[in-house]
Amino acid sequence: MTIQRTFSIIKPDATKRNLTGKINAKFEEQGLRIVAQKRLRMSRLQAQAFYAVHKERPFFGELVEYMVSEPVIVQVLEGENAVLKNREIMGATDPKKADKGTIRAEFGIDIGNNSVHGSDSEENAAIEIAYFFSGLELVG
Ligand code: CMP
Repeated sequence: MTIQRTFSIIKPDATKRNLTGKINAKFEEQGLRIVAQKRLRMSRLQAQAFYAVHKERPFFGELVEYMVSEPVIVQVLEGENAVLKNREIMGATDPKKADKGTIRAEFGIDIGNNSVHGSDSEENAAIEIAYFFSGLELVG
């Protein structure tokens, strides 16, 4: 059994529509535990740095403006194979391609407004968690 931690964001389209409880119910019902959480408004610099790997992509400017448009919830999820499990619970990036019952299929609007972000690897999870949380804020 591999207990992992992964990083999760409930994005502006979801906080705006008051969906944070419904989204976190999906994580909790499927065995992930929220071990750190805060609601914040990202600055442009924070959003640009967080998504730096996408800076050459045509949608980068739009992505940054979207991420600063409303508050977000940043959180750390813990559980067995949490990185992969989180991605399964979220569903495909494009809500139109996401499996039935996943967060993005149920709540996502389009590929930009896709309600949640989740780390794509254990290595990136550690980087993304450290970007928003100190070790003392992770309470398992
Ligand atoms: P996320 O998992 O947060 O990682 C990068 C984000 O870029 C992704 O979710 C999408 O919301 C967004 N994204 C990816 N492709 C596109 C696109 N073609 N147009 C707009 N946003 C996109």
